[in-house]
Amino acid sequence: MLKAIYPGAFDPITKGHIFIAERAAQHFDEVVMAVLINPDKNPLFSMEERIEMISDALSHCPNVKVCGFDGLLVDFARKTDCSVIIRGLRALSDFEYEFQLAQMNRHLAPECETMFISTDAQYSYISSSAIKTAFQFGGGVKVKEFVPSLVYNRLQEKYSK
Ligand code: COA
Repeated sequence: MLKAIYPGAFDPITKGHIFIAERAAQHFDEVVMAVLINPDKNPLFSMEERIEMISDALSHCPNVKVCGFDGLLVDFARKTDCSVIIRGLRALSDFEYEFQLAQMNRHLAPECETMFISTDAQYSYISSSAIKTAFQFGGGVKVKEFVPSLVYNRLQEKYSK
């Protein structure tokens, strides 16, 4: 059984992330979406909220599982028997950071392979922060196409308070 882990903050999940997860799900027996518990990042959504939104957005992919994690990614990959780390690449600007992360993870866990999936062009310039900023300043409706409907509703609830 070939298992891959797709880690991230997913605060919140966007259609860019969903595109990567769906592609990964076609190539692996199981894909574990690993949601980073990172108190330093001060996330907008709690872990439970992020997990619920990811599970809803990927309910059509039965081989995708969602879990929270803290500590080192490679330790969680070992714990969940994942031999491949999936990361999405949007543009060349992602490469340097991703390359450094992949090298460090290889140093920590040589048995674990990082594989990159390029995002779809229509999602190449979106990020969770950009979506949140648009909502914060009243431009939520303009970015509706980039997030699943549950995420859109949850963002509206957060920013209408
Ligand atoms: N579509 C849309 N947005 C995307 C995207 C895609 N395909 N791919 C990345 N992004 C965006 C995210 O939305 C996020 O945007 P934001 O900064 O505006 O929130 C940004 O790119 C960063 O992506 P994310 O995947 O959340 O990465 P991260 O840098 O926050 O976390 C981990 C990456 C979780 C893999 C890494 O921090 C980690 O492994 N942490 C655990 C500790 C560890 O083991 N460190 C490595 C060894 S020291």
